[in-house]
Amino acid sequence: MIFSRITSLFFAILFSITSVFSFVPRTIWYGRETYSVEDSENILLDVALIADTHSRSKYYNDFNKTIRKTLCGISQTDNIPDALVIAGDISNAASEEEYRMIEWSFDTFNKVPNIIPATGNHDIRGRDTYEESVANFIDFAEFCGIETEKPYYSTTVNGYKFIVIGSEEQLRLEAVVSDEQLTWFEEQMMDAVTTNKPFFIISHQPMYNSHEVYYVEGAEKNHGLGAQSDKIESIIRKYVPDYQYPVFFVTGHLHYSFDENTVDSEFIKNLYSISLPSSTKTEDGGLGMAVEVYSDRILLRARNYITMEWLEDYQYTVELKK
Ligand SMILES: [Fe+2]
Repeated sequence: MIFSRITSLFFAILFSITSVFSFVPRTIWYGRETYSVEDSENILLDVALIADTHSRSKYYNDFNKTIRKTLCGISQTDNIPDALVIAGDISNAASEEEYRMIEWSFDTFNKVPNIIPATGNHDIRGRDTYEESVANFIDFAEFCGIETEKPYYSTTVNGYKFIVIGSEEQLRLEAVVSDEQLTWFEEQMMDAVTTNKPFFIISHQPMYNSHEVYYVEGAEKNHGLGAQSDKIESIIRKYVPDYQYPVFFVTGHLHYSFDENTVDSEFIKNLYSISLPSSTKTEDGGLGMAVEVYSDRILLRARNYITMEWLEDYQYTVELKK
């Protein structure tokens, strides 16, 4: 009798505890502090940037564990970002299983309303054919709320434009941008400079000659945008240097950690090229960058979304013209 009452009491307590916790959002990682933007009253756009997640198909894979922790960390804030950019190599081999696994992680741990994915060389070359690889990316883009039939598209968040470039052929490292995409890119740039706002270009591979210090001598053409890099560059040079707002060129691919060359503002006037580390392949996973847009400045704040630290050595302020 007493034993059965103790058992009933035990299950009643257990049920109460699980009931209470089931109402707490699952994105909260118990015991960890949350983070805040610098000025939550006046922020106009808040974006989290990550790259090179390299999702795998198995739940217990270390890359997937790091992705789950990173997404959890991005959403563990009083001020949920408006958008989350993944600058390519979302998957490791472009398989449906890898995409379904990262979709599950987003469903479970992410609260950011706008996800902006870009293809990387792994996403493009992962399957036997280009068409199969891109079809799997397009399915993932649809999961993110992006309607596109191609690996390139544009979208707008809070009035801020994001132009996403994508490769159209399977090369090992570089991208191939068709004439059709170049024409589209120029049209997008023409539109972007009419928004009277800063805007973003997302490209997995950096332009040649930017972040040049990263390149290994003799292999410098292996990690850039590809044969059309100069054409992309010349379109950017046509519209960006005289634009009254700064433009951000967001890349991944190189898998370097943060260092003094992470943000290249020298390559093209008024363009800030941001070379993101891999959020899963660096020694300390969870690396990314928060972009906070205010009326008078834009902050680029390197962050470890797993250890929940701002990386103070890599914080940049871009002052806006009055
Ligand atoms: Fe990568």
